[in-house]
Amino acid sequence: MSKAKLITPYGGKKLVNLVVTGSERDDLLARAAQLPSIKITMRNLCDLELLATGGFSPLDRFMGKADYERVLHEMRLSDGTLFPLPITLTADPKELPTVGEEIVLRNANNDLIAVLTLEEVYHWDPETEAALAYGSTDAKHPMVSEMARWGKVCISGPMKVVNLPKYYDFIELRRTPAQVRELLENMGNDNVVAFQTRNPLHRIHEELTKRAAAEVKGSLLIHPTVGMTKPGDVDHYTRVRIYKALVDNYYDKKSTALSLLPLAMRMAGPKEVLLHAIIRRNHGANHFIVGRDHAGPGKDSTGKPFYGPYDAQENMRKYEHELGVKMIPFEELVYLPDEQRYVEGKDVPAGARTLNISGTQVRDDYLAKGKLLPEWFTRPETAEILRQMYPPRHKQGFCIWFTGLSGSGKSATTQVLTSLLLERGREITILDGDVVRTHLSKGLGFSKEDRDTNILRIGFVAGEIVHAGGAVICAAISPYRATREEARKMVGENFVEVYMDTPVEVCEQRDVKGLYAKARQAMQDGHPMGFTGVDDPYEPPIAPEITLKGYGATPEENAHKIVAYLEEQGFLLK
Ligand code: ADX
Repeated sequence: MSKAKLITPYGGKKLVNLVVTGSERDDLLARAAQLPSIKITMRNLCDLELLATGGFSPLDRFMGKADYERVLHEMRLSDGTLFPLPITLTADPKELPTVGEEIVLRNANNDLIAVLTLEEVYHWDPETEAALAYGSTDAKHPMVSEMARWGKVCISGPMKVVNLPKYYDFIELRRTPAQVRELLENMGNDNVVAFQTRNPLHRIHEELTKRAAAEVKGSLLIHPTVGMTKPGDVDHYTRVRIYKALVDNYYDKKSTALSLLPLAMRMAGPKEVLLHAIIRRNHGANHFIVGRDHAGPGKDSTGKPFYGPYDAQENMRKYEHELGVKMIPFEELVYLPDEQRYVEGKDVPAGARTLNISGTQVRDDYLAKGKLLPEWFTRPETAEILRQMYPPRHKQGFCIWFTGLSGSGKSATTQVLTSLLLERGREITILDGDVVRTHLSKGLGFSKEDRDTNILRIGFVAGEIVHAGGAVICAAISPYRATREEARKMVGENFVEVYMDTPVEVCEQRDVKGLYAKARQAMQDGHPMGFTGVDDPYEPPIAPEITLKGYGATPEENAHKIVAYLEEQGFLLK
């Protein structure tokens, strides 16, 4: 078969390539040891990889100020190219050399990744970016809580990449945009439709992808995101095992390519869909599947979805021409059990019975209970892989995260709850704020930064315990909403936020540890100590899993309420 003639990369004839090789690389490596360096985050590393290999073409660097500002306000780079979201690298100004000098970028393991020539350093504002880029400053949006912790300045300049991130898992499925293009060229179809996903593939997705490939009469690129997805998603190891099994058994090998994309998602729905299309065009696709709630971040703290279910389709329709990537839209699909087939919502015959299982139901009604998913919903391979990876909920770890003022009743309730859980045969770890400060967080003070560090340390340890199947109770004031959301992300979906809603007057009157008196005295003496409820804010949770009254109800009553919740959710057997 002759080679396909694929669509050109976005915004130019050639893919950006920042990877240096041969003697240029050797020279850089030799020089790099003398240069100042900074560590970059997982998100930065994913972005850097897509910049380096041309996934974000024509963008060839972390954005400078002119690009950044115009992208925020108009979704365009400074030269007018449509580009929906900021791609930035933030840093702490103290760690930077002067403009014009070189700086080394390292990953979390200290491996040398790239050398950046510092051309620009500029201030940015997380609230402004949140509002303009994501349309919300609500900390429930995964980007909003994450951005609050980024560096104070953005840096930009040309980069030379000496080492692309190294992977050891599924290496046969990890390809650069150029390698994906080669694979697709060899399939021989000029038309390529790409499918983005961050979830296990069920029959619905098989239908979407096969129908789309038939519609464009071309190749199908199954292109799951394995960089960063929505916190709490099924991990990529499990997902990729499912994708492989399905492609092997149910797809036409001659026209289907499975490749992994190291993208760090933003969960920016209608804007992210445009970024997805740009990336897929750079990989050689000229069509892109967009279904319901594409790249949706879920609901905000008032329970309202951040974006409408078809906002992403609307935006794609507006810009598909300019992007050069045609949308293949789908409405939500449902199953007609009497006809044993899937149809889009709009095509359901009047009066027909329909079936559907939502993502939440998959988790709560099937996996959590150790029940196998039905065959009309998913292939047996998928059902089995998911069952292996997800033990029933009473065998999973969980985190009870208390938040509330000092003296609100967190410790007293913890004490009772611990006994009740031990009585039920559940081992339990306790991370008490005061105790943690005597070792894990020894030396930290009460500035906002130190408090955040303390909470994030507790969150990190809690996450490790829960992922290993353990139960943990965290009892710290944890006054800031965004930081609690970060802890929630580290723990994952088995995070139970318990708000001890006790009025500050009651806590102050109790003053079990004498801390309120001390804080008042410190204020009078002119050395305020930043004590929550006195001279530092407490941000109550907006939608905690459980709210308890630390006044008017006893610790026993409150602990029993938590046990009842754990039983109801399946974490404890009744
Ligand atoms: S996403 O964040 O990557 O968009 P997901 O992996 O769930 O999440 O979805 C991948 C693509 O399939 C998206 O375009 C989404 O809109 C589409 N999709 C997922 N489930 C359905 C469904 N039940 N009906 C229609 N489209 C769907």
